[in-house]
Amino acid sequence: MRYSTSILALATPLLVSARPLRTTRAASANTALVFNFANVLNQLENEFYTQALAKFTSADFDSAGFSTDIIPSQIFNAIQQDEAAHISTIQSTLSANGATPLNCSFDFSSVLTDVPTTTATSRLVEFLGVTAFQGGATLIDDPVLLDAAASILTVEARHSTLLNILSGTGSVIPQAFDLALTPQEVVSIAGPFITGPCDIGITPTNSLSITNSGPITSGTTLTVSGTNITGTDNLFCNLMTGGMTFAMNMPLSQCVVPPGMNGPVAVWITSDDDPLVNNVIDRATTQQVAGPAIFFVDPTPDAIVSLVRDGSSSGSSSSSDSSSGSSSNSSSSSSSGSNGAAAAPASTPLPPDYVGPSPDGHVMVNGVSSVPGTPAVASSTPASAASASASASATSSSS
Ligand SMILES: *[C@@H]1O[C@H](CO)[C@@H](O)[C@H](O)[C@H]1NC(C)=O
Ligand SMILES: *[C@@H]1O[C@H](CO)[C@@H](O)[C@H](O)[C@H]1NC(C)=O
Ligand SMILES: *[C@@H]1O[C@H](CO)[C@@H](O)[C@H](O)[C@H]1NC(C)=O
Repeated sequence: MRYSTSILALATPLLVSARPLRTTRAASANTALVFNFANVLNQLENEFYTQALAKFTSADFDSAGFSTDIIPSQIFNAIQQDEAAHISTIQSTLSANGATPLNCSFDFSSVLTDVPTTTATSRLVEFLGVTAFQGGATLIDDPVLLDAAASILTVEARHSTLLNILSGTGSVIPQAFDLALTPQEVVSIAGPFITGPCDIGITPTNSLSITNSGPITSGTTLTVSGTNITGTDNLFCNLMTGGMTFAMNMPLSQCVVPPGMNGPVAVWITSDDDPLVNNVIDRATTQQVAGPAIFFVDPTPDAIVSLVRDGSSSGSSSSSDSSSGSSSNSSSSSSSGSNGAAAAPASTPLPPDYVGPSPDGHVMVNGVSSVPGTPAVASSTPASAASASASASATSSSS
C-alpha cells in the first residue's frame, strides 16, 4: 500500500508533510507566482497519468512489450498519487500565504495514442518537472518555501529515472547534472497541452517544434518550426544538456546533433551566435527567437531496461510529438548499439569563424578559425566510443 500525503493528512493531521507551509510573512509576489506555476505543472503531470491510466488496459501495456503489465501501471499510479499529493500541499500553501491557487485543464489525447508514445512522452513530462522546479528555485525568496520546493524536486527526479527505464530506449541516469529552464520556457513547452483559461501570469517564450520525423541521434540535422522562424538565414540553434556551461551554438542550417549527447537535450533558436548560458539567471533572453524544445538522444539502452521491456513489443514505435521528438524505435536502438562516434564527419580544415562541433566531435568550436592539434579519431569500439561521448559532452573541454 502506498500512502499519499492526502491519506496521511486525514489520519495524522500533525504530520508536517500534510500541512500547508505558512511562513511568518506573506509570500512575495515572485514566490506566489512560482508556487502557482508549480501548482499548474503538477496538475499537468497528474492529468497526464490520470488520462493515461483511464485509457490503457493491462492488455495494452502487455502488448507494448513490458515484461509484465503491472510494471507500467504500478509506476504510473505511484507517480499520479505523488502529483496529487503535491497539488494538495502546494494549493493549501498558496491559500495559507494569501494567494489563490489556479486550477487548469489539460488535453493529452494527441500523445496518448499508444503505450510507447505515452511512455516516451511521460519521460518528457517528468523531465519538464525537474527543469521547472530547478529553474523556479531562483525566484523563491523564502528559505522555508524553497526547502518545500526542493522536497518536491527530488521526487520529480526519482520519477524521471523510473520513466527513463520504462521508455525502454535510453540511459536511466543519462547526465550527471540536470538542466534548469525558466518558467517562461517551461510554460512554452507545456502550452500545447493546456486547454481553457489558465492564466499563471507568465508569458511563454515563442514555442518551438522539432520537425524531424525519425529518431534523433548523433549526426542528425535538426529541423524546426516556430513563431518567427522563416528559413534559416541569420538564425542559430543552441543545444544544451545538463552540466554544460554554455549551449553549443550553430547556424540553424547546420544544426547537427554532435556525438556524445545522451538523454534530454534542449534546443533554442537565437538571432545571434552568442551561445546561451546554462544558468537561468544569466541566460540571455533578448536574442531568443523561439524555444526551447526538448528531444532525447538514446545511444544505447542501459542493461536494466531489458528487465522491464522484454523486447516482445508489438506496439508501433511512436515518434515525435512536437516537443518531445523522442526516439522510440526500440528495435533499432537496442539492436544497433550504435554510438555517435561512427557518425563523426571526416576531419577537414574548418572554415574561418566556423561554429559547430569539431570534426572529431570532441570539442565545440565557437567561431574560431582552427582547432589546435586535431586529436586521434575515436575508435568505433563501444567502450572507447562511450568515453569519447563522455569527453564530448563536457562543455567545450579539449579532448
Ligand atoms: C481547485 O480545485 C480544488 C481541488 O479540486 C478545489 O478545492 C478548489 O475549490 C478549486 N479552486 C477553484 C478556484 O476552482
Ligand atoms: C517576430 O519578429 C518581429 C521582428 O523582429 C518582432 O517585432 C516580433 O515581436 C516577433 N514576434 C514574436 C511573437 O516574437
Ligand atoms: C526501426 O528500425 C529498424 C532498424 O533500423 C527499421 O527496420 C524499422 O523500419 C524501424 N521502424 C520504424 C517504425 O521506424
